[in-house]
Amino acid sequence: MKRTIQLRVVVSCLLLGSAVLATAAGNNRLIINADQGKSTISKHIYGHFSEHLGRCIYGGIWVGEYSSIPNTRGIRNDVVEALRKIKIPNLRWPGGCFADTYHWMEGIGPREKRPSIVNTNWGGVTEDNHFGTHEFMDLCEQLSCEPYICGNLGSGSVQEMQQWVEYLTFDGKSPMADLRRANGREKAWRVHFWGVGNESWGCGGNMRPEYYADVFKRYQTYLYNFGGNRIFKIASGPNDDSYSWTDVLMREAGTVLGGLGLHFYTVDWSNKGSATQFDEREWFKTLKKTLSMKELVERHSTIMDKYDPGKRVGLMVDEWGTWYDVEPGTNPGFLYQQNSLRDALVAAINLNIFNNHCDRVRMACIAQMVNVLQAAILTKDEKMVLTPTYHVYDLYQVHQDATLLPIDFEPGVYSYNNEQIPAVNISASRDSRGKIHVTLCNLDPNHTNPVSVELRGVRVSRISGRCLTAGALNAHNTFDQPNAVKPVEFEDARLTATGFESTIPSKSVVMLELE
Ligand code: AHR
Repeated sequence: MKRTIQLRVVVSCLLLGSAVLATAAGNNRLIINADQGKSTISKHIYGHFSEHLGRCIYGGIWVGEYSSIPNTRGIRNDVVEALRKIKIPNLRWPGGCFADTYHWMEGIGPREKRPSIVNTNWGGVTEDNHFGTHEFMDLCEQLSCEPYICGNLGSGSVQEMQQWVEYLTFDGKSPMADLRRANGREKAWRVHFWGVGNESWGCGGNMRPEYYADVFKRYQTYLYNFGGNRIFKIASGPNDDSYSWTDVLMREAGTVLGGLGLHFYTVDWSNKGSATQFDEREWFKTLKKTLSMKELVERHSTIMDKYDPGKRVGLMVDEWGTWYDVEPGTNPGFLYQQNSLRDALVAAINLNIFNNHCDRVRMACIAQMVNVLQAAILTKDEKMVLTPTYHVYDLYQVHQDATLLPIDFEPGVYSYNNEQIPAVNISASRDSRGKIHVTLCNLDPNHTNPVSVELRGVRVSRISGRCLTAGALNAHNTFDQPNAVKPVEFEDARLTATGFESTIPSKSVVMLELE
């Protein structure tokens, strides 16, 4: 087997890492079985969430047709262009908690005639309903992504939810289809993903799982498949480790649901902390917490396996991400937070976890897309900044719809204050052109981590990569310095007789491509 060692780079990622000369923390040996992939990493794992919350919709996406901010039918061009680059596959809307207070008919028709309502969940601000069904579907069309609509089960009626589906997807003659046409849309849209309530254990109605399972079955009965449209019904799933919720839902409604949502935020509710002012103690605490996503996914999946051994039902992690204190001086109800290198690691670790469990995890939507919680994009009037989280989605888009490759892995450890977590986190896939992509995170902020990889079942002759890191744990992009954290080419990887080896910079995310 002829292997050539080839790496040409302009900028070394290592130059950006602060710990270039620090000692390596462990020897991470791994085997990638490149010919044994069985499961597809659904592109929908790379989904996003947008709620009527703070400046996510208003200001972040919708500025209105008469805004001086460049827009297409009221939707910001800069935000759409940035999101198209990372190929977002789906967008969940209108909430969140907002979904169970939202009455969709208030958001259609001439905008000046739409009623203003109170956004009771998020700051008690006035919601003028200018962004409604037509605007959301236009956004999805501009993004070339699939809509994921969350219907109101908490305070809405069965009829209201049924009519929304009919309004959106029925092409024939009916009161709802005619109303859609009267509002300017002739052709029915295609809507596949449909949430039947949100957090029905909490803001969506404070229900017991037994009660919600029955209500879910009732509502879903009337969500018809019109024409060629097929509704994929997603139930409000468990909060964190509420395993009994999963058990009851799967037992009572497992045969009629398509997916079960899981919500898990990386947060310490007793002390959320600042998004940017933190030390290594909080870095470690955040990464340790986020790693528990693996256990949650595995335990919920095990329960699902009991009722659904064929894995027909998807685990949809339709809200996840970091949740810190809001930026000083901003409305506490708007959940606006900055986004640092730490968030990049959180995003990368979770996406690796989802990839590695793609036999059950079929969708994930980070909370939220713009200006709220762990946002990919921040805006301030006409300015826009791409966060470190955005750049992780950029690096990881290579995994969308690729085949997951099994990995045997013995990670080294990252120790802090007598606690230990795995230092390196990884996933690998093979795309339709045969290219292999390996995404690696080094959680250790003080040491580089060597990885030694045996590649089985494939021949490769070229390796290249990109890397996201920075000098400081809390490095972040601002409106004045939008490029403080961004990916650069990575040179520290070389082919060997049996695979490849690399040295992963401290506190970094690396994407390697082998062909
Ligand atoms: O994403 C913010 C909120 O977090 C959502 O509205 C709700 O579903 C969750 O509790």
